[in-house]
Amino acid sequence: MMLKDKTAIVTGSAQGIGKAIALALAKQGANVVVSDVNLEEAQKTSSEIEALGVTSIAVKCNVADAAAVEALVKQAQGAFPTIDILVNNAGVTRDNLMMRMDEQDWDLVLDVNLKGAFLMTKAVTRIMMKQRSGRIVNMASIIGVMGNAGQSNYAASKGGLIAFTKSTAKEFSSRNVTCNAVAPGFIETAMTAKLTDEVKQNYRKGIPLNRMGTPEDVAGAVLFLVSDAASYVTGQVLHVDGGLVM
Ligand SMILES: NC(=O)c1ccc[n+]([C@@H]2O[C@H](COP(=O)([O-])OP(=O)(O)OC[C@H]3O[C@@H](n4cnc5c(N)ncnc54)[C@H](O)[C@@H]3O)[C@@H](O)[C@H]2O)c1
Repeated sequence: MMLKDKTAIVTGSAQGIGKAIALALAKQGANVVVSDVNLEEAQKTSSEIEALGVTSIAVKCNVADAAAVEALVKQAQGAFPTIDILVNNAGVTRDNLMMRMDEQDWDLVLDVNLKGAFLMTKAVTRIMMKQRSGRIVNMASIIGVMGNAGQSNYAASKGGLIAFTKSTAKEFSSRNVTCNAVAPGFIETAMTAKLTDEVKQNYRKGIPLNRMGTPEDVAGAVLFLVSDAASYVTGQVLHVDGGLVM
């Protein structure tokens, strides 16, 4: 129970990696604000969390919408005395080759994956700076490190998120707020379910541990970064990719 009495906000936690993170934090005693654009699924995740004996609320929030982010943080503050952990996990893909990528697909991916983290971080650090403690984890991707054909929008958003993480780590360190990023490789979720078996097979060949990752593999890394064991770790990018990028 290393997170007893702590409160965490996890964005995009109705399903996939975010849901696994929300459950892992709750298993360590944290109360969890489950936020997502999909309220119905978020409520189901929230009920699963409450069954673990902690408190959880589900809040509908599009992280790219500044007013919705303000409302989410206000609701979280009303429900819990502190906000100790923020996991900026919400993310989307709109893949296409550069020549075929339209402006809307570029804007949407940058708005959700990068601006969303900016809006959430700005709203939550106001509280964390006053508390003089806090943990922020941003969900990047190995694609933000190595790039990928057909994912220029996604790669730019995740590369930007890594640079954002390092900047906020430097800015908030004097108030004991750490900021780190997790860079997953290929994880079995709805996001990668769209890939053909052939593409998955090809990716697997390049993974030293010879398997795709699970949402729980990623949640383990987040748990470390928000725990006391990582109190001297900030501005780092932890790859959870079976050794794909090294
Ligand atoms: N699956 C992978 O292989 C992989 C690899 C690297 C990084 N990631 C990153 O991990 C994160 C989670 O991905 P996943 O695989 O669980 O995807 P997913 O599609 O299964 O889940 C994403 C969740 O985010 C929510 N969401 C989408 N847009 C939102 C918005 N504007 N505001 C709030 N919530 C929103 C969705 O409703 C969904 O519940 C993403 O940031 C993704 O880029 C995933």
